[in-house]
Amino acid sequence: MIKLIKSTFHNEQETKEKLCEFIKSADLLSFGPECKKFEENFAKWQKRKHCVLVNSGSSANLAIVQALLNENKIKKGDNVGFSALTWATNVMPLIQLGFNAIPVDIELDTLNISSRKLLETIEKHQLKMLFITNLLGFCDDIDEIRRVCEEKQIILIEDNCESLGSKYKGKLLGNFGLASTFSFYVGHHMSTIEGGAICTDDDQLATMLRIVRAHGWDRNLNESQQAKIRNKFKVNSTFYSRYTFYNLGFNLRPTEITGFIGNEQLGYLDQIIEQRKKNFYELAVPIYEKKDKYFAIKYDHMDFLSNFAIPVVCRTQQIRDELVEKCQDKIEIRPIVGGDMTRQPFFLKYMKKFADHFSNSNAKLVHDQGLYFGNNPELTSEEKEIILQVF
Ligand SMILES: Cc1ncc(COP(=O)(O)O)c(C=O)c1O
Repeated sequence: MIKLIKSTFHNEQETKEKLCEFIKSADLLSFGPECKKFEENFAKWQKRKHCVLVNSGSSANLAIVQALLNENKIKKGDNVGFSALTWATNVMPLIQLGFNAIPVDIELDTLNISSRKLLETIEKHQLKMLFITNLLGFCDDIDEIRRVCEEKQIILIEDNCESLGSKYKGKLLGNFGLASTFSFYVGHHMSTIEGGAICTDDDQLATMLRIVRAHGWDRNLNESQQAKIRNKFKVNSTFYSRYTFYNLGFNLRPTEITGFIGNEQLGYLDQIIEQRKKNFYELAVPIYEKKDKYFAIKYDHMDFLSNFAIPVVCRTQQIRDELVEKCQDKIEIRPIVGGDMTRQPFFLKYMKKFADHFSNSNAKLVHDQGLYFGNNPELTSEEKEIILQVF
């Protein structure tokens, strides 16, 4: 069986041994210097000013929405757009924190939102924010989406949990919006087992994210940020300052284990994404050429395509169902990400009035006719041969 996920870490054995040594010798295993070091390293890698490390990509999504609320950049009841084809915990924080979650359909040839789809949605619903997903390493015209958002004063946030390392028009995905979220879950580009992060260039937002990450208090801020917030709320004594809760937060902190593994794995990241890119060209390109069976997904507009799975959208549901049969016990496959969100029970429970299938016809088609298989760096040539034969 060719598994979706073949290993927990890149260079697994050595990483596990280093981790055991680290745990045995570390004085502190809760949030500490390894996490801070990772934040600096990752911000540098992603070419962003700030990185705030959290315990999952889902937590990163929850934290950014809460931070924007705390900063009064958005308010409960606002309309927030999201990609109709995404993962559930991109949408759930919007509902949990009191927003109208408005689906924006995707384009069939990129699986992503385009400026055209965004403009169609804006005609019906005034959006205050767009929480776009860069799906499976691809994007559509995200530079134009950014321009539309700027013109219409829509805050653009990127869920980049599936596109770490992808580049469009010379810029890394995750660097088009005010902030972007990342996942270091074991199946993703780079694994810390569980883990996630938010990146931004905005100083104030980064400070708020650190408050949101840990109980709403100020302990992970630097001295001048602490002085400022304590001054503002007239907190003068050390006795109380450590237990003053300034704004709404959660506990989404990572541990030093996350930070340590992140620092180790970051060293392999360029190598990992390069290998996955090679796999993509070897596997997806010949598959997408079978235009009678599959819809072609565009990739040549990207400067660098970095994904951890290869999506295939079949011309008919019958072709997809036959493939599911053919893959049984040979290739592990699954629906494309979480499918059409507007058909998921949680969405229908809370946001039924926005579940308009006519407007999300492409997401619906991908839900019914799509599947993906894993693209991991350890795929062998025999395994690639099997995949090509089956598809
Ligand atoms: C687009 C997207 N956002 C968020 C997440 C959540 O990340 P995590 O599994 O780290 O919570 C995922 C997970 O697969 C995802 O695909």
